Amino acid sequence: MKPVKVGLLGLGTVGTGVVRIVEGHQEDLQSQVGSPILISKILVKDRAKSRNVAVDASKLTEDPWEIVRDPEIDVIVEVMGGVAHSRDVILEALERGKHVVTANKDLMAMHGPEILAKAREKGCDVLYEASVAGGIPIIRTLIEGFSSDRITKIMGIVNGTTNYILTKMSREGAAYADVLKEAQALGYAESDPTSDVEGLDAARKMTILSTLGFRANVALEDVSAKGISNVTQEDIGYAKRLGYEVKLLGIAERQDDTISVSVQPTMVKTSHPIASVNGVFNAVYVHGEAVGETMFYGPGAGEMPTATSVVADLVAVVKNMKLGVNGRQAQLSYKVMKLKTDEQ
Ligand code: NAP
Ligand code: HSE
Repeated sequence: MKPVKVGLLGLGTVGTGVVRIVEGHQEDLQSQVGSPILISKILVKDRAKSRNVAVDASKLTEDPWEIVRDPEIDVIVEVMGGVAHSRDVILEALERGKHVVTANKDLMAMHGPEILAKAREKGCDVLYEASVAGGIPIIRTLIEGFSSDRITKIMGIVNGTTNYILTKMSREGAAYADVLKEAQALGYAESDPTSDVEGLDAARKMTILSTLGFRANVALEDVSAKGISNVTQEDIGYAKRLGYEVKLLGIAERQDDTISVSVQPTMVKTSHPIASVNGVFNAVYVHGEAVGETMFYGPGAGEMPTATSVVADLVAVVKNMKLGVNGRQAQLSYKVMKLKTDEQ
């Protein structure tokens, strides 16, 4: 059986998990897609660096074009991060007819429409389940699970690093800077954690969720974002005494044809299910006109949960290849809606 060949861009926290799952679950994956899945080349910044997973050194390259221009490679899995470079590499991969799986929310929030348009033109898949809420399959749920409904509200904790920090500050009285360092060491934080703590990572994720949930073109610039860097132990203690937990919440609402999206530290009543979402866990609450209230919960960051979503996308791409239906995911046309911004 001819293997499906994958070019993996990045062998950090998420890339390591992808290698572990593709190798460790190979038999299960094959039974679902009907052929072996082989990671044939891996892009890294520094080939000499020691790795947390055993890989054949001959697969490692520092040249993205060697992977993207390899005619043998069917699917590119992008888990290196960054925006401008990743965009160029992914657009070139799509131009060459390769399918793409990415965990890159920065890229999808900023250049999603352009990338999906290229995918549509080329009949390729671009799947990005891991870009929001790590191991929770929320993107697939919004696109497929709620296709019959009109979603009016999406609210949740969509950043694991900040929830980890707030939880440790609240439960253990830990110092903000110490817990941030821990979250970095655990592989939860972005390479520049400013985007986590200032709410930008959550804003990017809310842009993606509201675009998909409301089937509207939501621009990142229209999402107001405040982070947790100014939240003090005193704020948390004061909230607790009043019966609240402080959580970094993303809130997206639709009223008729107007939508508003924001991210900010919020006092949540301890009786609300979101108040008991702790540590690196995320939760996304979705309200639909027909379904009513739903909530999705799970690990929001980290090696194996995130890689679970990446490899699930890879399986979906390979299944689509077998059925000859790639590109279906990109066949979406979104309504242009009014966005209510801070200035209004
Ligand atoms: P990471 O640990 O910093 O790993 C990045 C990997 O990409 C490294 O192997 C690095 O090579 C390689 N790389 C980066 N820039 C490169 C370049 N210009 N050329 C060649 N190789 C390059 O990052 P991560 O935490 O795995 O995150 C990767 C992506 O997944 C990001 O988009 C992130 O936002 C997203 N994500 C992460 C998580 C998480 O929990 N960590 C969850 C969801 C989504 P070296 O190893 O040689 O330095
Ligand atoms: N830095 C991100 C977080 C990774 O902490 O949620 C998962 O997207």
